Order: sequence, then C-alpha cells, then structure tokens
Amino acid sequence: MTIHATKPLGIEFAATWGTTKQYPTEAPCDNQEEPTMKKWLLGAVFLLLIAFVMIQFIPVDRTNPPVLSDIPTEPEVKAVLQALCYDCHSHETVWPWYSRIAPVSWRVAKDVHKGREELNFSMWDQYTTQEQVKKMRESLKEVAAGEMPPWFYTPTHRGLHLSAEDRMMLRTWADGPL
Ligand code: HEC
Repeated sequence: MTIHATKPLGIEFAATWGTTKQYPTEAPCDNQEEPTMKKWLLGAVFLLLIAFVMIQFIPVDRTNPPVLSDIPTEPEVKAVLQALCYDCHSHETVWPWYSRIAPVSWRVAKDVHKGREELNFSMWDQYTTQEQVKKMRESLKEVAAGEMPPWFYTPTHRGLHLSAEDRMMLRTWADGPL
C-alpha cells in the first residue's frame, strides 16, 4: 500500500534526473537553511560571551585613596551627605557589586573619578575658604534642583530618600558660615 503511494514521487525524481541531468538542488537547500541560521546565531552569541569575559580583564581603578580631611560639621549633617554623596564625592566610596562587572564598572568608576574631581569631601582642607563656600552653595543648588544625587543612583541605593528634615539640615549646613 505504502509502496504504491510513494511510487509517483519516485517517478517524478527519475524524470527530472533523466531530463536535466542535474541533482535536484532546491529541496535539500530549503532544509539546510534553518540549521545554518541557528549555527550563525550560536556563533554570534558565543563571540559576545567571549567578548564579555575578555572585557572583565580590563583594569578598572576602584581605589579609595587615604582620607586627608573631612568636612567639619555635625554628625547628623555628615550622615546625610555620607549616605547621599560620599560614594562619588569622597575617598570613602562603597563600591557596589555591579562596579565589578564591565561595562557597568567603567561607568561607575568614571562617575566616581569625575565626582571626586568636582567635589571631594576627603580633601576638604585642600580647598580655600572661598572654594569651600562655593562648593557648599553649589551642593545645595544641585540637591534642590534634583541634579544630585544623579537619578540612576537612588534606585540602586534603596532607602535613600531625602526627608524634609534632611533637606533643612543640608540647607542649614550649605547656607551657614564656615
Ligand atoms: C553616582 C555618583 C554621584 C553621587 C552619588 C553624587 N554625585 Fe555629585 N557629581 C557626580 C559627577 C559625575 C559630577 C560631575 C559631572 C556633573 O556635573 O554631572 C558631580 C558634580 C557635582 C557638583 C559640581 C556641579 C557643577 O556643576 O559644578 C556638586 C556640587 C555635586 N556633584 C554635589 C553632590 C551632592 C551634594 C551629592 C549628594 C547629595 C552628590 N553630588 C552625589 C556624581 C555624583
């Protein structure tokens, strides 16, 4: 029964071979296309994986240099600044786990180094009095404008939100005399 059913197909093939003297090329090619695509995708994923592993070996500067000085202020004010700002503006950075994974680590390190350049509470005494006043006023402005801490910092540091009391404290510190 089954032999009968396949018979016409066999005849068709024989006919094609006989007339064109060529192997039927279309049907087998169609079948091969999917595995080739899969292989290509697998290769791409594999290459990406290799690249991801390789970039982990690029050194990232996550050093915390010695604390040379600190802001002279009440512990409550310092606690607020420490929680919100010290990770990027001091030598007391607590490097989060994702600061160990490239390429995120590059961004974190860049922010910390740039942040320390702009304002470094661990080198407070190195600033002149005028500079200190300027940095305090700027800090207040940045916080009031919602620019600092940066928007991407707060979600990764849960429990960080400035209460009205914290804001008042920062204002008193930043507006106050040295
Ligand atoms: C995630 C890192 C990070 C945190 C946290 C952070 N900053 Fe910054 N800060 C930066 C970077 C990077 C710069 C320099 C580039 C810029 O202006 O965006 C900067 C710049 C500044 C400047 C200089 C701005 C200027 O335009 O000259 C001040 C002042 C400042 N930050 C205050 C603060 C204060 C106050 C806090 C805490 C309430 C804080 N920052 C928290 C990264 C941070």
